[in-house]
Amino acid sequence: RRNMIQVAVMGYGTVGSGVVEVIEKNKEEINKKSNEALNIKYILDLRDFPGDPYEDKIVHDVEVILNDPEVQIICETMGGLKPAYEFTKRALMSGKSVCTSNKELVATHGPELIQIAHEHTCNYLFEASVGGGIPIIRPLNYSLTAEKIDAISGILNGTTNYILTKMEREGAAFEEVLKEAQEKGYAERNPEADIEGYDACRKIAILSSLMCGKNVRYQDIYTEGITKITADDFKYAKVMDCTIKLLGLAKEENGGLYAMVSPFLISKSHPLSMVNDVFNAVCVHGNMLGDSMYYGRGAGKLPTASAVVSDVVDCARHIGKIITCFWDAEDVKLTNVDEVERTFFVRVEKAKEQEAKETFGDVKEITAGVDGEFAFVTGRMSEKEFNEKAEKVGVISRIRFA
Ligand code: HSE
Repeated sequence: RRNMIQVAVMGYGTVGSGVVEVIEKNKEEINKKSNEALNIKYILDLRDFPGDPYEDKIVHDVEVILNDPEVQIICETMGGLKPAYEFTKRALMSGKSVCTSNKELVATHGPELIQIAHEHTCNYLFEASVGGGIPIIRPLNYSLTAEKIDAISGILNGTTNYILTKMEREGAAFEEVLKEAQEKGYAERNPEADIEGYDACRKIAILSSLMCGKNVRYQDIYTEGITKITADDFKYAKVMDCTIKLLGLAKEENGGLYAMVSPFLISKSHPLSMVNDVFNAVCVHGNMLGDSMYYGRGAGKLPTASAVVSDVVDCARHIGKIITCFWDAEDVKLTNVDEVERTFFVRVEKAKEQEAKETFGDVKEITAGVDGEFAFVTGRMSEKEFNEKAEKVGVISRIRFA
């Protein structure tokens, strides 16, 4: 071996400690595949870790890492924008490649950081930012290069998929399952980012940007979480041979691109309906290939760390070279979801049956033994048209069909 590549890890939390563990446990494999030996020189964290086997590598000052010319690759596993953005930018400006699991930072500043990296002949890689351990960024960048990708749909959040799976299997209420998931440590104490769909929104922003090669702002993506889904909704879903999943979607339609995050009813024959518990999956549709699907563990210490380390290996193989990634800073003007047409599942009070039928026209009634309601599936219509009609009648709830 000619060289020893020095690596620093910024953020010694769940993912960061996983990165150290993966590099240590799979040392032989990783060094072989990198064609170099990797060595963790520093671990940045605010805290001390007395008794930790890597205690002597802990540093508290980022300058130690940024000013050490030996460090060539940095794993950013801090999360959040501050101070990760500044640290990443400075690392890239000094020619150090950065591999990250930080979807928030990638979704917010991705194209700028990629450009800075390339201007300094290094790389900014983010395989772990979407789908945890599932390879999805690299397939989009390297593998599906002969395709025009026109649709991506995915289950991109493990916490919500776990909750929905339990609700379906046990007929339980949302709050009940959330509480249990929190007690078991599957859901965060503050679960807002997951249950309101914000986490999935960042991830579909990243995927849709790679799909079109321009910047899809996460702020422009219509996002709805799962907090309004009830046990009764699952009763109806079952009758329709469907399940309910939180999906991130990006689709080219009528010459435009739309992106959204929302709970959807999907048929039990749809491959995404079989993705349960904390698993994630992404379906990619290409114009030549048709459908392909990527499935696996979308979160968790070692799966996510494995994806970060795969980027480290990629960086080690490309020292002094740029790894192409098409993601320009130019913002995409998304089609407003109001224009998108689909069918809807709707619940109204029994007393409104006649009015609903008159307003929505040809509807298909669904009965699932829920008292006091009239439930139905609409014909195809735009969201805008649907919203006008729903407002006129006054509905209990509605769920989109994928
Ligand atoms: N909270 C996320 C999830 C972690 O539940 O999928 C991975 O980004």
